[in-house]
Amino acid sequence: MKRLAILTGGGDAPGLNAVIRAVVKTAVPQYGWEVLGVRNGFDGFVQDDGVFPLEVSSVRGILPRGGTILGTANRGNPFAHKVVRGGSVVYEDSSQKVFDRLERLGLDALIVVGGDGTLRIAQELHEIGVPVVGVPKTIDNDIGGTDFTFGFDTAVATATDAIDKLHTTAESHHRVMVLELMGRDAGFITLYAGVAGGADVILIPEIPFDFGAVCSKIGSRVSQGSFFSIVAVSEGAFPKGGNQVVQFQGDSNLQTRLGGISQTVAEYISKTCHVETRVTVLGHLQRGGGPTPYDRWLATRFGAAAVHVAVEKNFGQMVAFCSNQIKTISLKEALAVPKRVDVDGDMVRTARDLGISLGD
Ligand code: F6P
Repeated sequence: MKRLAILTGGGDAPGLNAVIRAVVKTAVPQYGWEVLGVRNGFDGFVQDDGVFPLEVSSVRGILPRGGTILGTANRGNPFAHKVVRGGSVVYEDSSQKVFDRLERLGLDALIVVGGDGTLRIAQELHEIGVPVVGVPKTIDNDIGGTDFTFGFDTAVATATDAIDKLHTTAESHHRVMVLELMGRDAGFITLYAGVAGGADVILIPEIPFDFGAVCSKIGSRVSQGSFFSIVAVSEGAFPKGGNQVVQFQGDSNLQTRLGGISQTVAEYISKTCHVETRVTVLGHLQRGGGPTPYDRWLATRFGAAAVHVAVEKNFGQMVAFCSNQIKTISLKEALAVPKRVDVDGDMVRTARDLGISLGD
């Protein structure tokens, strides 16, 4: 009997459980394969109880659930595994332990569901002979080679709902409401939710902004009788000639955490435009809750396709969604260039056509 394992790594995203379910429901009854679940990303390979069987009954009822039944680890890197020694955190190369475990398990395939960090580790493992298949996940939608990652649509829905709700207070109190959204260095969530929610100003990392341009948009709305505005700002946005606002400076083991630009923007607006301004940081609500139907559909297609790729022994590939079709692309190619908002593309043009200020 052939055997595959599946793990979920990096930040959680709505749709992870839908992928796990699709993998199990395709591999077990359709192909007669055995499926193992790995707990907490690659960390599961160095934990005694980190690998366990997944049956069809194990995935019953998980399709609408957010998070991941397997657990995940942000920096679950076998080449820099986090351990606590003598009260302090150290990072050790545990890759040998992982290879030994993989060998003992005798896997015919390892399906790795993750964002760019996790998929990069998958690519490294593939290069040394591990039969890896990648599935792209992230609310940020910043992975190359695929039009969309699952999790993104749910995050956009949550962010759009937040803009809708902020509109009522903005209008009633004649205020500027600044909403900070996630996405790291990619502005997809902010751009899509900003357009869908009818924001007046959208600030994304791909277009460095000018404080004066933001204020002039708010001022022109006031002069036209609209005494409120909505500003949607990506956590990674930054002013021309300035820097991103960093909450936590990362290193080779820990990722830099962005956050706080909304406060800077709001302070400028209230001091310079003299309009009462409030800040909302939506944070991890964007990653929480059940997946939208679109994300369930995409995640399910990815999961089933990943099993087909494993059966065909097409290792080192990532499943992708391109022009309405599920395809595969090599992990190496997908990870070569991170995806960013095309500043000359249709979405940005549409925003400008509607009179939305991009702050430039
Ligand atoms: O990559 C997904 C993401 O939610 C980013 O949008 C955000 O910057 C980051 O993860 C937050 O990470 P953490 O869960 O470590 O706070």
